[in-house]
Amino acid sequence: MRSAIATPLVALILAACGAGSGGGQSPPQGLVPTLASIQANVFTPICAKSGCHGGAMAQQGLQLDAGFSYGNLINVASPQDPNLTRVIPFDPDNSLIIQKLEGRRFDNAPILGERMPDKGPYLQQSTIDVIRLWIANGAQQ
Ligand code: HEM
Repeated sequence: MRSAIATPLVALILAACGAGSGGGQSPPQGLVPTLASIQANVFTPICAKSGCHGGAMAQQGLQLDAGFSYGNLINVASPQDPNLTRVIPFDPDNSLIIQKLEGRRFDNAPILGERMPDKGPYLQQSTIDVIRLWIANGAQQ
């Protein structure tokens, strides 16, 4: 009797806190697949924090402040693994930023380092899909 009540209740709580599904942060209103919109709604408020990707001391040299993100992402190899490229225009699956945001690779190989944002909350897949579309459309400036 007891477990019949507990199990759905736990599932409900897990669903509510978005565990394991990247359901933390709801997609920003009005996010569209342009760099300006992704910068204003994702890079600046979520990534470009001090100690993370804000300022000259950004992690792995990946500064994601407005005016810096394009030059630090497009066709730039990772200093951690030069075989990986942060953003490959027209190729979201092989772009490191997508692998880091989704926490997985299309070939199921382990991702480089941690899933981003580091220690979460992770972005909703619908938000990541907008970034995927920007890259699939050529990652225009
Ligand atoms: C959605 C926002 C974020 C994005 C798009 C992002 C993206 C990335 C990418 C692409 C890398 C790999 C860099 C490379 O090797 O070339 C990286 C590394 C890293 N990021 Fe972030 N990041 C985000 C948020 C954060 C936040 C908020 C923190 C700090 C709490 C953080 C801390 C780090 C650290 C420590 C590394 C190096 C270790 C690793 O690769 O796991 N990031 N990030």
